Amino acid sequence: MVAGVAVRADRLGDAGYAEAAGRLFGSVTPENEIKWQPTEPEPGRFSFEAADRIVDFARSHGQRVRGHALVWHLQLPPWVSGSLEEMRRHIEGVVGHYRGRVAEWDVVNEALSDDGRFRPTPFLRELGPAYIARAFRIARAADPQARLVYNDYGAESPGTPKGKALYRLVKGLVQLRVPVDAIGFQTHVDLRPIPGFERQLRRIAALGVDVALTEVDVRLPESAGPEELEAQAVAYRRIVEACLAVERCRSITFWGLDDGDSWIPEFFPGSGHALLIDEDLRPKPAYEAVRRALG
Ligand code: G3I
Repeated sequence: MVAGVAVRADRLGDAGYAEAAGRLFGSVTPENEIKWQPTEPEPGRFSFEAADRIVDFARSHGQRVRGHALVWHLQLPPWVSGSLEEMRRHIEGVVGHYRGRVAEWDVVNEALSDDGRFRPTPFLRELGPAYIARAFRIARAADPQARLVYNDYGAESPGTPKGKALYRLVKGLVQLRVPVDAIGFQTHVDLRPIPGFERQLRRIAALGVDVALTEVDVRLPESAGPEELEAQAVAYRRIVEACLAVERCRSITFWGLDDGDSWIPEFFPGSGHALLIDEDLRPKPAYEAVRRALG
């Protein structure tokens, strides 16, 4: 079981941050730096400066790198029309640059809507749902050694429209022999239990893929006190235990090192405290719970 963390290049110069990110985790994911907008801001002009800093950091700490994300509808430059030519150039350019250095890629991210339909993206409009299979085949050819992941959020429960749609999607990809090695469950949650989480991991894995928790965080109200922090520790422990219970659940990545650099307060106003370590880099009850659960 690998424990990983999403990191931000602009925080690696902070000694406490770098020390903790380098020492506590076996894998890192650039939180924003390998996305389409920063890596290919203009057609065919690639830029890897910030992402390279993270990949070099990982190498110097003996960590794996998860590449996030090749084909996604957000942080996408406005010129992207969704054509096959653009998608091929982007995947080949980015995966080719990191060949042998990035262990796994989120090849397609968030292709499903909450209602279980395919999300209307430029790629869907241009290529239809087949864009997903094409992206994986292009990525496989660009680095045959890299593990390839389909990654999504809100599909952690088997009974929801999106949970069911993920099952159908994976089944179809496996039947078509699309080179998908693993399914990533982002797992951005609050204190409510996740109905059927372990069962969902198990039944997706039973289709013949690995599974992973790729962007875990558990948000609390901004006003949270000691009681909520204890409840958060329990929620984190349950999440880790669900993964540990499923043989093919291979890794857990937390979506940020500390509460000071979490995406939550910006996107969920009134919420925060979502990570294992507080903004002063002090471990929270959730940190201890996760450490104990992971042994
Ligand atoms: O790059 C600009 C910078 O130039 C500017 O000065 C600054 C001022 O606000 O903004 C910077 O852009 C921010 C970007 O992160 C890079 O830091 C955006 O405002 C901010 O909205 C953006 O948010 C990221 C978000 O994806 C974008 O959708 C979050 O940090 C990141 O945690 C989040 O991650 C996503 C995963 O990729 C996919 N799954 C969901 C997850 C949470 O939304």
